[in-house]
Amino acid sequence: MCGIVGYIGSRDAYPILIKGLKRLEYRGYDSAGVALISERSAHLNVYKVKGKVSGLEAYGEREDLSGTIGIAHTRWATHGEPCQVNAHPHLSASGNLALVHNGIIENYNVLKEKLQKKGYLFKSDTDTEVLVQLIDYMKESGKLDLLTAVRLALKEVVGAYALAVIDQTYPDEIIVARKSSPLVIGIGEHEFFIGSDASPIIEYTDQVVYPEDGEIAILSKGKPLKVVDLSNVALDPEVQTLELNLGQIEKGGYPHFMLKEIFEQPECIQDCMRGRLHVEENEVILSAIIDHKDKLMNAKRFIIIACGTSWHAGLIGRQLIEHYCRIPVQVEYASEFRYSHTVVGEGDVVIAISQSGETADTLAAIELAKEKGAFVYGICNAIGSSISRATHTGSYIHVGPEIGVASTKAFTGQVTVLAMLALTLAKVKGTIADETLQEILQELQVLPEKMKKALETNEKIASLSRIFTYAHNFIYLGRGYNYPVALEGALKLKEISYIHAEGYPAAEMKHGPIALIDMEMPVVVVATHNSLYEKLLSNVQAVKARQGRIIAIVSEGDEVISEIADYCIELPRTVEALDPLLTTIPLQLMAYHIAVWKGKNVDQPRNLAKSVTVE
Ligand code: G6P
Repeated sequence: MCGIVGYIGSRDAYPILIKGLKRLEYRGYDSAGVALISERSAHLNVYKVKGKVSGLEAYGEREDLSGTIGIAHTRWATHGEPCQVNAHPHLSASGNLALVHNGIIENYNVLKEKLQKKGYLFKSDTDTEVLVQLIDYMKESGKLDLLTAVRLALKEVVGAYALAVIDQTYPDEIIVARKSSPLVIGIGEHEFFIGSDASPIIEYTDQVVYPEDGEIAILSKGKPLKVVDLSNVALDPEVQTLELNLGQIEKGGYPHFMLKEIFEQPECIQDCMRGRLHVEENEVILSAIIDHKDKLMNAKRFIIIACGTSWHAGLIGRQLIEHYCRIPVQVEYASEFRYSHTVVGEGDVVIAISQSGETADTLAAIELAKEKGAFVYGICNAIGSSISRATHTGSYIHVGPEIGVASTKAFTGQVTVLAMLALTLAKVKGTIADETLQEILQELQVLPEKMKKALETNEKIASLSRIFTYAHNFIYLGRGYNYPVALEGALKLKEISYIHAEGYPAAEMKHGPIALIDMEMPVVVVATHNSLYEKLLSNVQAVKARQGRIIAIVSEGDEVISEIADYCIELPRTVEALDPLLTTIPLQLMAYHIAVWKGKNVDQPRNLAKSVTVE
């Protein structure tokens, strides 16, 4: 999804902007651009390309890239096709202003018509160009300063935005503003940095400000940061210290971020549980649960809302909470929930799960739930993200930045937090036996080691994956706790290898997908040794009878399903409720290797964005 970078200070802005854009590449984009106020001519120069940021570097040889103030952007098309004209920054009619924007201006058509009547011509199909012309119109027609023009323009705008604007008649200033789209300002020594997240900023400073919705920040050379609201009331920005380091966002010797992130999982889970798991005391403590225990214990019902991989984690969360806390749980896609007639209100606890903490549908669903009186609990990875701020309380998963577009370590982190949430609540509610709790806690404690064992299957999976590059379809089957794992395995494969894959509850296969099975069809069965093993066995036999090619994920020492399957991956045993934390790993690895064998862009698959900040 769109990425914004900006710089103002005494260094050359261009290299900082390009490096920043590269750090944001993981978000997914289709075109890129940069605007600089030239040191040589004092003019505003804008350079844009369709395609990769590296295309912008070609400009270096022939253009004026001087300047100590600039803004840059990676675009993910919403209004208008991906092309150079639609790429940001957009220039205003006067030629004075350049603007980058992330979000959607919902009333752009109405505003565009108004501006056209005033004689404004539009080059692109974007909503962003409307915004820059509107600011231009306010400024030129009212003879206003830049800040006032931005403020008045934003008062007319309906929609979501994170934006940065520069003006060649104000060469010492960048104005930024945000509403419902992410933006961070980094504060250095007499310089400022801007980023859609902290990754373009982190190597220069750890001092940051996250502007709130409806706030405008004025970044002026040699002056302190100034923040105002849309009515020009001065605000006191809260400066925070980032706890992210550069190593966390670089590949660390792996060929792809995705593989690095898959292999980081044992450590991530350890970080996620640190300080929360107290095996000897037979306790797991998520402080947010303890702080709000009355609300949570007395909840009529939980509603989990999320999108994509986070939604799959939610399906596992449902089983954990119903199993151990005996509270009814429903799981909804945030995008459906926000427009559905779901009955929600006081007494409901909504759990919003999001890796990025910026997913627009999830954010909107949270606002709706809050309006209706529900108590909202967030499970996020990105610290300080919009969702973590919009919820009443919550828990971070603490797995570090996830760069690969296909989510891996965030999924296992989310499931781990959901397990800890269910166990904390079950203990305060008294719905779990001490021995059961102790058994699960002991398993959680050794889980990082078991994950390492699961990762040892990597080489076997790499060679196995090569066989299946021929496939155009895959079926993934699982039951109980492993049913969402089957869905997640299928999603991973689709996302990065572009092979069509369906995840199904194994027993439901006979009501449709069984018709697809023939000797060409790979069927991945998640068949670890748990209470549904015998049931799954008959489903596996049904696939075998139709000559499907079975890849079974089994427990160490399995002797039955492994005899029937064509290929087997063995995993350490654990308690049933924690199975997904292990069974997910071979499916992540298989999707990864198939995509690599097929020569696909694993970290930035086509058409996908890491952080989906539009509806
Ligand atoms: C995008 C990403 C997925 C992610 C989903 C939800 O589609 O590509 O990997 O699962 O958004 O994102 P969130 O940040 O809310 O977990």
